[in-house]
Amino acid sequence: MIKVLTVVLKRLMIPVVLLCGLLQVAAQEIITVETAENALVFEVNEDSELNAIYLGEKLQYDEYSKIPAQYKQGSNYTGIYASAYTPAGSKNFLEPAVEVTHADGNMSLSLEYVSSEQKEVSPGVTETMFLLKDKVYALEVKLFYKSYEKENVIESWSLIENKAEGELQLRKFASANLYLYGNNDFWLTHYSGDWAMEMKPETSKLSHGVKVLDSKLGSRANLFQPSVFTVSLGAPATEEYGNVLIGGLEWSGNFRNEFEVDPLNNLRIISGINNYATAYTLEKGENLTTPKFWFTFSNKGKGNASRNIHRWARNHKVLDGQGSRLTLLNNWEATYFDFNEKKLKKLIGDAKKLGVDLFLLDDGWFGNTYPRNNDDAALGDWDVNRKKLPNGIGTLVETAKKNQVKFGIWIEPEMVSPDSELYHKHPEWVIKQPQREEYYFRNQLVLDLSNPEVQEFVYGVVDNLFTENPELAYIKWDCNAVIYNAYSDYLGEDQSEFYVRYVQGLYQVLEKIREKYPTVPMMLCSGGGGRVDYGALQYFTEFWPSDNTDPLERVYMQWEYSFFYPAITMAAHVTDWGDQSVKFKTDVAMMGKLGFDIVVSELEDKELEFCKQAIANYNELEDVIWHGDLYRLRSPWENNIASVMYVGEQQEEAVVFSYLVNYRYEQGNPTPVKLKGLDPDASYAVEEINVYPGAQPVFKSEIYTGDYLMKVGVNPNVKKDNPSVVLKLKRVAK
Ligand code: GLA
Repeated sequence: MIKVLTVVLKRLMIPVVLLCGLLQVAAQEIITVETAENALVFEVNEDSELNAIYLGEKLQYDEYSKIPAQYKQGSNYTGIYASAYTPAGSKNFLEPAVEVTHADGNMSLSLEYVSSEQKEVSPGVTETMFLLKDKVYALEVKLFYKSYEKENVIESWSLIENKAEGELQLRKFASANLYLYGNNDFWLTHYSGDWAMEMKPETSKLSHGVKVLDSKLGSRANLFQPSVFTVSLGAPATEEYGNVLIGGLEWSGNFRNEFEVDPLNNLRIISGINNYATAYTLEKGENLTTPKFWFTFSNKGKGNASRNIHRWARNHKVLDGQGSRLTLLNNWEATYFDFNEKKLKKLIGDAKKLGVDLFLLDDGWFGNTYPRNNDDAALGDWDVNRKKLPNGIGTLVETAKKNQVKFGIWIEPEMVSPDSELYHKHPEWVIKQPQREEYYFRNQLVLDLSNPEVQEFVYGVVDNLFTENPELAYIKWDCNAVIYNAYSDYLGEDQSEFYVRYVQGLYQVLEKIREKYPTVPMMLCSGGGGRVDYGALQYFTEFWPSDNTDPLERVYMQWEYSFFYPAITMAAHVTDWGDQSVKFKTDVAMMGKLGFDIVVSELEDKELEFCKQAIANYNELEDVIWHGDLYRLRSPWENNIASVMYVGEQQEEAVVFSYLVNYRYEQGNPTPVKLKGLDPDASYAVEEINVYPGAQPVFKSEIYTGDYLMKVGVNPNVKKDNPSVVLKLKRVAK
């Protein structure tokens, strides 16, 4: 009766709120999810639906309930445009977050708010859970929001449970369903890419309708685009100004992000596992937990937002995010597949000469029946190639030890080459269509990680390496192929779960590896940056942003990655790509986790001397670079130079990297670069480091106050003759 009256009153346009007492409609319930700076606020409406009423800077006083009355944006015909988790098939007609088919074939869903719970799960981390139920079918959704107080990050995900008799089919099951109030003025920055061309940004104003960013690639899911994005409200945010939301999905497989400017001119963001070629079945009592979607909101521009994310990533997400990392020498570009024990032992000696912590043996060390002399064979046959390495890996680990460097190794354990013993022995482990032609990506196929036997095999690849070589200190885990012709022999008739189960299988393997080997550093690589996300980074200490190591390209690429990932996770190597000087290359690689992939013996004396000195400088600055705050000072997209600064947590030390990106006549840096994040009252000695042996510094050492450095700035004097300059700041007095 009350319901009917409410509907009638709505039609008569009489404000229901005024009559609430009279009609005994449940009081408006407001639930807030807060961080130090932000609030995500929900309201349970008179129909017991959970809607978002606010997402933005936290209000000083608890006045959230007064917000809805201020919006006069037209008719919300369904009452659930701002649903916290939009169900399909009842009254909704916008993009849904969840779509199901019940056991009886009915495809409707309507979610009613039942209760909520809020608890502190660890210091400064609060979890809010909303219980939602369908009125007709026994289906429950728990919606979770985990808020990280001081990092200003919120994670959102759901748990969907079938409590009814018979099978429930989930046809869409998003992790996040956000609602941003605005006035048709939202700016989306997202990324396109390909091999060696990762993270190419595009910014455009969203128009009405739905914009979809997704991946259907399966394993190397980010090859064409990652799930990370930025949405600015009102105008494209800059580093220091503007309202901006930065987010991404913690999932290493197919994802789908939807941005819908709705009929009320507000923005709906839905993110989750891609439901392309996918439906997930839940038997009675079964549930599915969706991956987490992370986001931060900043009203002080993108700089503040990315520092939020970096802190959160280091404190809560990335494996050993607060720890240290190893500098390394990799042999990939120095030898490719062409090496033997003697050559490698010499390179290990070079690693010592250079002064790095570790030697990393890349692809090509395995396979006998089908030797790995090229990228067309042997994946899956993880036995040491006897011709190249007759004495196994052990002797290399031994040599490394003698040279006081650690030893690491490359693997690509999810993959199989058609020319391999594994392929012939276990064709049923391979993802391929039984009756169709095989398509190859880099001459290889992907193993079926939905199959527990395959999971065991992949785990075994890592476990055997460590068992045989207990002193192995580092793994580079590659993933070069996408999934063509998805079909799992193991799943039989349940193919519609394949893409989800692949990633679940991968995580199970990684989980097991981390149980036994909790801290050993592992690099996440995928033919470059084809797989980078915070789902995977919980198991990895760093990632390989791109095979493109041309330092000029890397200035742009690392700049873009830095909106989402902290420097400690970003492996950056000095290689033969690009014809810039060794100094320029090293200065760029020092912005991330420094490594080398060069023939050390071919370096000129001065070049070697420079590298050694730069590594020593890096070791001194590593805490600032790995754990400090990042400030993007001057964008390479808009200036002749790029300038990036890291400030240590205590503001004792800082480093400023500047690179010339425009080589046209007389182009340099005309004005001082204002520094950020310093203590205004402290004095800092500013000194140029990484000066090439025999060259004169281009920057005169001087003491400046933080105040001066932040208000006036200094000119790093970057120009054609000295295209990269690194300045180190050290506090000398309060
Ligand atoms: C991928 C990686 C490279 C290298 C090769 C080896 O392309 O991104 O760094 O390891 O594989 O085959």
